[in-house]
Amino acid sequence: MLLAAKSNGIIHRVRYILGIETSCDETSVAVLEERVVRSSIVASQAQLHAQWGGVVPEAAARQHVERLNAVLQQALDEAGICLSAIDGIAVTNRPGLVGALVVGLATAKALAFALQKPLVGVHHLEGHLYSAFLTEPEAPIPFPHLSLIVSGGHTELVLVRNHAHYTLLGHTLDDAAGEAFDKTARLLNLGYPGGPAIDKRAQHGDPEAFHFPRPTVEGWNFSFSGLKTAVRREVERLQARGALDEATINNLCAAFQQTVVEVLVEKTLAAAQAHNIPLVTVVGGVAANSALRQQMAAACQHAGIALKVPPPKYCTDNAAMIALAGYFRLLSGERADYDLDAYANAPLT
Ligand code: KG4
Ligand code: ZN
Repeated sequence: MLLAAKSNGIIHRVRYILGIETSCDETSVAVLEERVVRSSIVASQAQLHAQWGGVVPEAAARQHVERLNAVLQQALDEAGICLSAIDGIAVTNRPGLVGALVVGLATAKALAFALQKPLVGVHHLEGHLYSAFLTEPEAPIPFPHLSLIVSGGHTELVLVRNHAHYTLLGHTLDDAAGEAFDKTARLLNLGYPGGPAIDKRAQHGDPEAFHFPRPTVEGWNFSFSGLKTAVRREVERLQARGALDEATINNLCAAFQQTVVEVLVEKTLAAAQAHNIPLVTVVGGVAANSALRQQMAAACQHAGIALKVPPPKYCTDNAAMIALAGYFRLLSGERADYDLDAYANAPLT
């Protein structure tokens, strides 16, 4: 079925959507044919930024400039289409590193102008929300659902009532979950990004070896900075005793991860039950965490709540999720002008 979008009385075909994502340290371009992913190319800059222990904004922007054209070509080649077949362009324009965002935005605008095709700006977190539905293009997107967004920059519980209708139930009051993983990994010299390293180490550790205080925050909000401080104090204590060996690092990783996962699972389940929501999604880079995936699945099953978590490649930043969010915006008739701007901060709701 070929869907069409109406804008200013003109019916536009929306078959092939080009997605562009450059908000942080992944240069990504994807092609969707309606809701089906035809290609999704992600060129990660993680290796570059690892030397600095975190993302350096100027370096990220420069890398996007160097790589975006090649990534675009690869996405078109893998999809087996040429540029002229594109019916619309979706680009992340907020929130993110402004220097990085403008690289994708300038490219998207140039393509939209040259091809005379519609352009839409997509909120990065809206992209993450849609990532849960990338692998089931035939199934209608079920509303309402509750989404736990856990990434490097955000930890939010969002009630998704319909396309573009969101209610923010809670958010982190300090560090994002991914940020806590990254900072804890840095403390333990495990490199950047820290989440995957801690996930791996934790599989060889004992989560009961240390007991870190569980962050207690009222309502549906989160807090992770106290936990990070507790881990740092423990590390300093162990270092002073010369007891920070590999097995102890594994135990620290397991105990830290377990504390984060328990908080995320308990709060998400409680929010879903309080609002009588039958489906939970977990999205964003931290949704790739193996313990979070397992424990959220077990808790949801126990509570009789359905769960959707994207495969790890769609948890971390990618343009396929931006293209899917953009697809629904294009269908609704939304169009951005060529003065579409990039914003470092922008609420989803
Ligand atoms: O969604 P994302 O790619 O970028 C942002 O929008 O921030 O998320 C990146 C974050 C990083 O903090 C990274 O450490 C974390 O996701 N992450 C993980 C795992 N894989 C990535 N955290 C825990 N376990 C993982 N397996
Ligand atoms: Zn992200």
